[in-house]
Amino acid sequence: MSAAPTKATPPVQVVAPPAPAPQPVKAVVQPGVLPQGAGRNVAQRLCGTCHSLVLVTANGHTEAEWDSIVARMESNGMQASADDINTVIDYLSKALPPR
Ligand code: HEC
Repeated sequence: MSAAPTKATPPVQVVAPPAPAPQPVKAVVQPGVLPQGAGRNVAQRLCGTCHSLVLVTANGHTEAEWDSIVARMESNGMQASADDINTVIDYLSKALPPR
């Protein structure tokens, strides 16, 4: 009676534990400091004339929200060209999204 062929031991798989998923980098917005981005200079010029930029950086908003905030600033008396309005809404929605 021949011995049953020994089964080859399957190679031990050394599986590295999955690396932790990278955390999305939360943009740290310094109060009153507008984040870098196209149109920042326009926002700096327009939005800092009546009040501190701390008000602007305090909260992130969606594009629709920035649109209505900027419209409200116009009714508050903000003077700006249509081009600047578009630029500033675009800048704000990218640089200061909801957080
Ligand atoms: C003509 C003056 C004026 C200019 C220019 C101005 N604001 Fe304002 N802003 C105000 C006044 C007055 C208030 C307080 C009353 C109010 O909330 O409407 C205010 C309040 C705010 C607030 C706080 C209220 C809220 O709902 O969060 C934000 C944010 C804001 N402004 C953003 C901006 C941004 C962004 C710009 C540039 C695009 C800007 N402001 C330019 C007059 C101005």
